[in-house]
Amino acid sequence: MSEETLTPILEVEGLHVAIDGKEILRGLDLTVEDGETHAIMGRNGSGKSTLSAAIMGDPRYEVTSGAIRFRGEDVLDMPVHERARAGIFLSFQYPVALPGVSVSNFLRQAVKAVRADEVPTKAFRPLVKENLQRLDIPQSFMTRYVNDGFSGGEKKRLEMLQMLMLQPPLAILDETDSGLDIDALKIVSGAINLLRGEGRAQLLITHYQRILHYVKPDKVHVLLQGRIVKQGGPELAEELEQRGYEWIESEAA
Ligand SMILES: Nc1ncnc2c1ncn2[C@@H]1O[C@H](COP(=O)(O)OP(=O)(O)O)[C@@H](O)[C@H]1O
Ligand SMILES: [Mg+2]
Repeated sequence: MSEETLTPILEVEGLHVAIDGKEILRGLDLTVEDGETHAIMGRNGSGKSTLSAAIMGDPRYEVTSGAIRFRGEDVLDMPVHERARAGIFLSFQYPVALPGVSVSNFLRQAVKAVRADEVPTKAFRPLVKENLQRLDIPQSFMTRYVNDGFSGGEKKRLEMLQMLMLQPPLAILDETDSGLDIDALKIVSGAINLLRGEGRAQLLITHYQRILHYVKPDKVHVLLQGRIVKQGGPELAEELEQRGYEWIESEAA
């Protein structure tokens, strides 16, 4: 199959999203093709998390108009768990703790819910082992409770472990790089890079350019007041690093 005939992994068209009646996204268009990694950049408050929440289906965010299609299928009527099962994964800045739930059980349930057909029970352990090695995580991690007393770096490792176990067709990482030390940043970028390839796409949402030194995006979009106002290749991220966001704001004004 030639590239032109592949359905995009994600299509967002004229998206308007409101929270508590306040319009946050104001006509956002975004297409992520199969195999691509895109970066969404923008200052705090520009609407980045609103976009990721709307794609994931967080009910607090009301889509007032526009469309979101995942692999050609309209997902707006699907609740969060259905979107997750369909293959959308969201990693966010503040993961919750689940005292009493071991990492092992948590992963088993997650894989069962999303990849039941692909990963038979027998294949689970070897897959965990392989991914633990890739992420430099000790086996003892598996019996701990999810995020209970985890350090920031450990939480990130768990999220990346979950992501590698699920192999999501669409992985959205919302500021997952913020506050990470350089070792954790390398683990996160390594995991994202492992995920890249045909049949999948990644959306890296970030305020800073730092992670983009390790994961080179195919396309970079700049979000300003709920709209994408500029797009480019990896060079755009570098330009933002050097010049900040002001010039984009004056260009868009
Ligand atoms: N729950 C909420 N209620 C009201 N306003 C919100 C809520 N969450 C976010 N906002 C507002 O929406 C705008 C965009 O927020 P957000 O999407 O979190 O931006 P970003 O992730 O780019 O920092 C901000 O002005 C923020 O104050
Ligand atoms: Mg945010």
